[in-house]
Amino acid sequence: MVAQLGQSLDGRIATITGDSRYIGSKTSLVHLHALRAHVDAVLVGIGTVLADDPQLNLRLVEGRNPARVIIDAKGKVPYTAKCLAEDGTRRILLRAEGVTGERVPDGVEVKHLPADKKGHFDLRFVARCLSALGFDKVLVEGGARIVSQSIDMGIIDRLHLMVSPVILGSGQTGLDLKPIKVLKEAKRPPTEVILLGKGEVLFDCDLAHK
Ligand SMILES: NC(=O)c1ccc[n+]([C@@H]2O[C@H](COP(=O)([O-])OP(=O)(O)OC[C@H]3O[C@@H](n4cnc5c(N)ncnc54)[C@H](OP(=O)(O)O)[C@@H]3O)[C@@H](O)[C@H]2O)c1
Repeated sequence: MVAQLGQSLDGRIATITGDSRYIGSKTSLVHLHALRAHVDAVLVGIGTVLADDPQLNLRLVEGRNPARVIIDAKGKVPYTAKCLAEDGTRRILLRAEGVTGERVPDGVEVKHLPADKKGHFDLRFVARCLSALGFDKVLVEGGARIVSQSIDMGIIDRLHLMVSPVILGSGQTGLDLKPIKVLKEAKRPPTEVILLGKGEVLFDCDLAHK
């Protein structure tokens, strides 16, 4: 699985009000759409759907739309969410067992998974379910909590971190992983750096490297 986040120089992915459109330039957006074109499915959390109402399809590059999978354990995705719109692509909501939740448009698949007391899934189990659904390549597109947990769970092979030359100075932190006590516990993945111009940098981190 590959994860991506677009962040500011000071490590923020959105303002305090949740505004994240757009931290990056058009070039970084094209890169995101190109990533979508390379995967079988995109996965996002409910926080991202409620804040951004993303379409999660290809508009800036040619190719086939990936399936759209939303972690919607508590059944909050609104009927009108753009990512649920019919366009011939599979749209899947992952809800906790026993949750009925909001009504969904025709054709949207609802899968029920076991959840803990907080109503949260074990994301390793989610990864196995996606694999069982036939999605070999998955892009975890946000938000910060789902990406961070996915890294903590060891299910992300590649992290694409796009850093844009903007300073928010406040707002939502990007990665927030389990605390470490000493620096030698820090992840230092082999990383390729791609300069996108105008100060924007893509860090392509190989998290699968042992
Ligand atoms: N710059 C970027 O690249 C980028 C990308 C995507 C999003 N964003 C921004 O990030 C913000 C949203 O980030 P976020 O971290 O709040 O949202 P998120 O990761 O999309 O979703 C987080 C929510 O999902 C639920 N959740 C967390 N872990 C879960 C689990 N294991 N199983 C089931 N549900 C789980 C929680 O809801 P409950 O507390 O209700 O259980 C949590 O509040 C927005 O402002 C958006 O604009 C930025």
